[in-house]
Amino acid sequence: MNNYVLIGFMGCGKTTIGRTLSERTGWENPDTDALLVKEAGMPVTEIFAKEGEQGFRDRETGLLRRLSAKGCENQIYSTGGGIVLREENRALLRQLGTVIYLEVSPGEVLRRLGDDTTRPLLQGENRMEKVQSLLEDRRSIYEAAADRIVRVDGRTPYEIADEILQASCRE
Ligand code: S3P
Repeated sequence: MNNYVLIGFMGCGKTTIGRTLSERTGWENPDTDALLVKEAGMPVTEIFAKEGEQGFRDRETGLLRRLSAKGCENQIYSTGGGIVLREENRALLRQLGTVIYLEVSPGEVLRRLGDDTTRPLLQGENRMEKVQSLLEDRRSIYEAAADRIVRVDGRTPYEIADEILQASCRE
């Protein structure tokens, strides 16, 4: 399908880069976290608190099934950082479009997230260790799920969007 799917760790810029790509292409930019929050009528932290991580992951899978069944074109999907963890989800993401992994370093994640408290998986002490270990656990999953890998450290959303769009022109 003629769509982009942005995947990557929390704070890698999926939302911002999705928005930039959307402005440049005029395509729509659905964001899976935002859609889930709207459907649930509560923020991500509350979904995790009430339904646990499994409940949140079930909601992600349900949403991806529905998006895939709808089959919309000219979409830029921004996704939640853990959406790739289920094999079924990875298959659904590939059905949705070209999957782009926005690769970020742990230091850049911490710089970008600052003291944001909306990520249930990064709450509490030792944030750096949490980011490093989660990113290490997930690195190969992101890579396996991706059609393309784009590094984001030290680059502006505009530069990153440019790389994504130019690579597509050459394909
Ligand atoms: C998660 C990432 C979050 C959100 C939830 C779980 C994860 O999205 O879906 O807190 O497991 O990495 P962002 O990547 O947009 O922060």
